[in-house]
Amino acid sequence: MPITTKTGVEKFIEDSAAPKLLDGSARIWQRKLCYYPFPKQQRFHYSGAKYRLFGGAAGPGKSKALMMEAIVRANEHPGVNTLLLRRTFPELEASLLQYFRRDIPRELYRSYNDSKHVVTWFNESTTQFGYSRSESDIYQYQGAEYLFIGIDELTMFTLAQWQFLTSRNRCPVSGARPNMAGATNPGNIGHAWVKSLWIDKQAAAGMDSPGKYDPGDYDFIPARLCDNPIYAADVNYLKSLDALPENLRRAFLEGDWTVFAGQYFDNFNTALHVSRPEEIQFEPWWARWISIDWGFEHPAAVYWHTAAPRVGESAGGELGIGAAACRTVTYREFTGQHMSPRELAAAILDHSVDEKISAVYLSPDAFARHTDHETIADQIGNMFVAFGLPRPVPADNDRVGGWMLMYQMLEAEEWLITSNCVELIRTLPNLVRDNVRVEDIAKIDGDDSADAARYGLKSRHSRVAAGDAPYEQRLAARVTSGDPTIRAIQARKAQLAEHDHSSPIHFARRQR
Ligand SMILES: Nc1ncnc2c1ncn2[C@@H]1O[C@H](COP(=O)(O)OP(=O)(O)OP(=O)(O)O)[C@@H](O)[C@H]1O
Ligand SMILES: [Mg+2]
Repeated sequence: MPITTKTGVEKFIEDSAAPKLLDGSARIWQRKLCYYPFPKQQRFHYSGAKYRLFGGAAGPGKSKALMMEAIVRANEHPGVNTLLLRRTFPELEASLLQYFRRDIPRELYRSYNDSKHVVTWFNESTTQFGYSRSESDIYQYQGAEYLFIGIDELTMFTLAQWQFLTSRNRCPVSGARPNMAGATNPGNIGHAWVKSLWIDKQAAAGMDSPGKYDPGDYDFIPARLCDNPIYAADVNYLKSLDALPENLRRAFLEGDWTVFAGQYFDNFNTALHVSRPEEIQFEPWWARWISIDWGFEHPAAVYWHTAAPRVGESAGGELGIGAAACRTVTYREFTGQHMSPRELAAAILDHSVDEKISAVYLSPDAFARHTDHETIADQIGNMFVAFGLPRPVPADNDRVGGWMLMYQMLEAEEWLITSNCVELIRTLPNLVRDNVRVEDIAKIDGDDSADAARYGLKSRHSRVAAGDAPYEQRLAARVTSGDPTIRAIQARKAQLAEHDHSSPIHFARRQR
């Protein structure tokens, strides 16, 4: 039986171990608003954190708690403003505004401005219902100050919008403590930065002042469907959620932040795709290549890759030319911000000592942009050539094809990442599909490592597809034994044969 009566809800709260509401705010909720917060909602209301996130599954009462928080804060202090936001007006209409009209008795407020969606309470405080459809719409709130800002479905907002709003979260009324809260399901464009700030408890990529991030300011209140007794007892609703595809089911029913709707690399599994570097027996004859996503304000990201022949996984001697003949291992990561091209080149050289690098793929924009009389690519390239590394060539920047290739390689277990590539491992599961170009991944702050890895995999793959059989694949065809000693002998022989017959790798050089 669903618990829909007040008595049923009250009983649920009494039966729970959650703290009971005793202060003045509670009296407003319970008597005037007839709001009886569920235990998780109580935890949300009681949190003293500057920035709260009520996040997780669908339906535990996040939006309602957010609205009640704004109303209670407005009524607690005279003459203050509170703000409730959704990304679009139709969404606002269907959620917060609908709850306001349905749940807040008319006699509790002085007026409601229907065109501005502003409620004025009897103490002259206000609660505004707003939205920010485009990225810049958020600036309409410039000049205003709000004691409380509640953002519903926070992951639909960008970090820049959130950061801007924090500057509007202030209040001159003494004793009033400005704070903000978000309510959200996992997923969407903001998944990565929201997860970073509240769940992983670390500064988000693209943050203005990451050094000033204080994890103590952020409180995450996880919520699951069963935290709302109305739905917890609704067998039909539970049944339909249970029938969803696994990822959606885990996100909506259990509030799992590692899988969510819209996630691109939903097949990324650390158990399958991440390995400790010491578990891999790197051979000196495996080809190695580097991919670089140039950045100055955004971090530059660099990856070192190698192609490990899948010896023994295919019939001896039949390893043909094709991606499946080798497994790509991305084995080293370097990220750096505010580094000049030459500083970046020096760092890459430092990390590549004693390695034979066959190619360097660099983001194409670095070939067009200058920081002095030379392009970024030339500055990096000149240093590389002077110290024995190949001159970078423009990376294949086919985004859709690149993401798809990465997905397929994960699916076929043809791509392994070593555990020291922490940024890449953190970023891949956070990437979401673009709403408009659904085959593409939405651009987000902090996607530099994924771009750099994509350059490495896609550029290499394009070379193979163009018929330029990589060195290590030609060797792989000759190194077939499972016995390490025989393998070493076969490798040495193959290397000597290659030395006699192979031609150097040529890349189209930039026109000067
Ligand atoms: N304390 C409460 N007492 C009674 N009903 C409640 C309470 N909290 C929430 N509800 C009701 O439960 C339903 C779901 O609540 P709400 O929309 O706030 O959940 P949500 O977590 O925001 O869901 P979603 O993930 O779908 O956005 C709504 O009809 C709401 O009015
Ligand atoms: Mg909601």
